[in-house]
Amino acid sequence: MRIYRDEDADLRWLQGKQIAVIGYGNQGRAQALNLRDSGLQVLVGNQEDAYAEQARADGFAVLPIARAAAQGDVVMLLIPDEVAPQVFREAIAPALEEGDAMVFASGFNVAFGFIEPPPGVDVVLVAPRMIGAGVRDLYLAGRGFPSFIGVAQDASGHALDLALALAKGIGSTRAGVVEVTFAQEAELDLFTEQCFGPAFGQVLMTAVDLLVEEGYPVEAVLLELYMSGELAYTLGKIAEMGLVEQAALHSRTSQYGTLSRSMRFVMPELRQRMRQGLEEIRSGQFAREWAAEQAAGYPTLQALREMARTQPIHRWEQELRQAMNYAPPSAVSLLGAEPAPCPSRKAPTPRLKQTIHRLRRLLVSRTEEQAGAAEMRPLRPEEVLPIVQAFLARLPGDAALRAFARDRDLTVHYVLEEPDLEFYMRFVGGEVMAGLGAPPERAHLRLRARADVLDGMLTGRIPAIRAAMSGQIRFDGDTRLAMSLQTVQERLGQIYREARQTTR
Ligand code: NAI
Repeated sequence: MRIYRDEDADLRWLQGKQIAVIGYGNQGRAQALNLRDSGLQVLVGNQEDAYAEQARADGFAVLPIARAAAQGDVVMLLIPDEVAPQVFREAIAPALEEGDAMVFASGFNVAFGFIEPPPGVDVVLVAPRMIGAGVRDLYLAGRGFPSFIGVAQDASGHALDLALALAKGIGSTRAGVVEVTFAQEAELDLFTEQCFGPAFGQVLMTAVDLLVEEGYPVEAVLLELYMSGELAYTLGKIAEMGLVEQAALHSRTSQYGTLSRSMRFVMPELRQRMRQGLEEIRSGQFAREWAAEQAAGYPTLQALREMARTQPIHRWEQELRQAMNYAPPSAVSLLGAEPAPCPSRKAPTPRLKQTIHRLRRLLVSRTEEQAGAAEMRPLRPEEVLPIVQAFLARLPGDAALRAFARDRDLTVHYVLEEPDLEFYMRFVGGEVMAGLGAPPERAHLRLRARADVLDGMLTGRIPAIRAAMSGQIRFDGDTRLAMSLQTVQERLGQIYREARQTTR
């Protein structure tokens, strides 16, 4: 793969051209400042908010987005990917003329068809592999940062030259840039966020959980594993020297211990889960799920954030941060200089508040009934089948579940272990169907758990979300659908407990 450097890029492809940077946030500010410092002609298009004020304070002419796009020959769209399609449709597309260039810092919207630029314009990607603060700091330090560049439409015949010139203007060719397709950039980015990141996070959480359970002081565990900044520092060295070479920075005991034990953690299931995640991304399933979540006003995202905050680790981290007046090295070196302005926070709507309240109740407190149910003793394996049968028989007639099923088409497949048992629930058009075995149609959601875990969840002994977050119950499918099931979780629990009491 070719690595383009400063000498491969020529700023003359931008000379005499007006660059309109749309958006002045993390990337917008850093890139606009770098391009201007590289001697290029830059104006900013922004809605009237704190970011626009910042751009004016930095000495830029700031215009409404549509006017900036009309004046720009090169229009760089540097606003959040979720709002970009609408802004593009309403303010930018009408202003584009033949010969203009549209520049994206992320392949997502073009790759998944949310933005379709008109013919006659170049469509290029200049996507820094660096947060905005780093883009600016490294430029000022005379250093670079890698970027992905790409061409989705080459109307001028020089789209790649233009992308290279922009990469040079922001300071990226000092480090080196590589060419990818918009789809590759988007898929790699999403894979890092959805597969690598969560897997890594789970490794960390598992280690914290285990060590705390074994009686090590929480503070010592967090400092040992990551909060001292040693891990971040080592990752920096891995980026600099490579995974293998950086080992030399560690003691021989550490090298021997790491190398001799690493094979124990080769887990085929990890690879399989990553492949499944990648497939969800490539097929557009994630893009559709995310678009639906945006249209609904982010209820699932809010709830998931709330859930993350209820994890004990969050409290431990806060306490440790307060107790130690210390900023780890990575934060000092990269984020210190020019913090980006903060977006104004929108207050949650009453509906969102309700969702969050309901989830909080599910997570941290228990209803009286559940508290009583917590006294229930765990099931013996032979008791599972008759209870599940009695439970399923009660579902179709239940008014609350039928109401939930009214505007819905949701099939949930439960796969239990110890004893092995499968059953399903189907909520469609106001009807509830349920039965043993796999569902007649393809399930939207598949939940797997040990029978005693599901029993614990439905009787209130084990909080549902905690079970999900600790991997005791696993689901495949759309997260939004899984969360929607939470609305009837309490009702399902009541029905289950009735079935349990009458069966035993
Ligand atoms: P950001 O969240 O910092 O964007 C803020 C800007 O968007 C402000 O100028 C604000 O006025 C504007 N904005 C927000 N909502 C708007 C709306 N409804 N209508 C019009 N303008 C609106 O965005 P960020 O993080 O700089 O991302 C920009 C692009 O860069 C995205 O495509 C992102 O994927 C990409 N990117 C971001 C990186 C990062 O470090 N955050 C790294 C690499 C790429």
